[in-house]
Amino acid sequence: MAIQLWDHQEILKMRRAALIVHAIHDGLRGAIHPGISTGELDRVALNVLEEHGAKSNFIGYYDYPAQTCISRNAVMVHGIPSDTEIVEAGDLVSMDCGAVLDGYHGDSAFSVVVPGGDKTLTERRQRLCDITEAAMWVGVAAMATESHVGDIGRAIDGFVTSFTPEPGIVEDFTGHGIGTAMHMDPDVLNYATRSRGPKLRPGMVLCIEPILTEGKQDNVTLEDGWTTVTQDGSDACHWEAQVALHEDGIWVLSEPDGGAAALEPFGITPVPLGE
Ligand code: MF3
Ligand code: CO
Repeated sequence: MAIQLWDHQEILKMRRAALIVHAIHDGLRGAIHPGISTGELDRVALNVLEEHGAKSNFIGYYDYPAQTCISRNAVMVHGIPSDTEIVEAGDLVSMDCGAVLDGYHGDSAFSVVVPGGDKTLTERRQRLCDITEAAMWVGVAAMATESHVGDIGRAIDGFVTSFTPEPGIVEDFTGHGIGTAMHMDPDVLNYATRSRGPKLRPGMVLCIEPILTEGKQDNVTLEDGWTTVTQDGSDACHWEAQVALHEDGIWVLSEPDGGAAALEPFGITPVPLGE
């Protein structure tokens, strides 16, 4: 399928959906604490969706059974929230959320280390979380400054492999185009390949979403058909941003400031969309 380019009005609609997802993230940040179940967190997300008159684009997607994906520690992606899964101090929790409003999709993810855990473990997990978040922003910066979709993965790859010890880059999951469906062309890889891929063009909206592991990237999907865990049991972390490239520059739709604060160290100023 050809890569869809979105016009100004369409990008504004996507921004609305993406900012609802941001509001879900805020709700989850405020709610998460040791003792809460991931099922309860999923209901926090549902409440925010309902407040905004939006729906989750996850539930029913290939029969996915929840509003959000909540993935703890060795769960890499697609953890299914449950009333029997209890968040503990020191957990590394990745929360992936989506919203559809007026036919346009938002999708983004963030991670936290729950305070109060063992110091050594917490520090190790915070390092993985920080590197994954930074890798996402390196990818966003590449979308602003480079010319091809593949440059995003090359930038992420170069950044992640500069660390010792080196986190694993999960190759089995990629970012994606987004718009009137959650997953659209092109795939946005998190690693370098020989091909630079398609040209970056104004009107593209991409989800950039590195998933990193503390150990090896190899993974297994459990019998529920969704929950994907690291094979070696090491921790994994996921961050995702939804980014529009428009005529005048980039704007991170999943951030109220368009990514201004996070992109400042790169010398990049996001360009507002106007109304
Ligand atoms: N939000 C995920 C992504 O970033 C996909 C969620 S899969 C679902 O692409 F089944 F939960 F919807
Ligand atoms: Co996504």
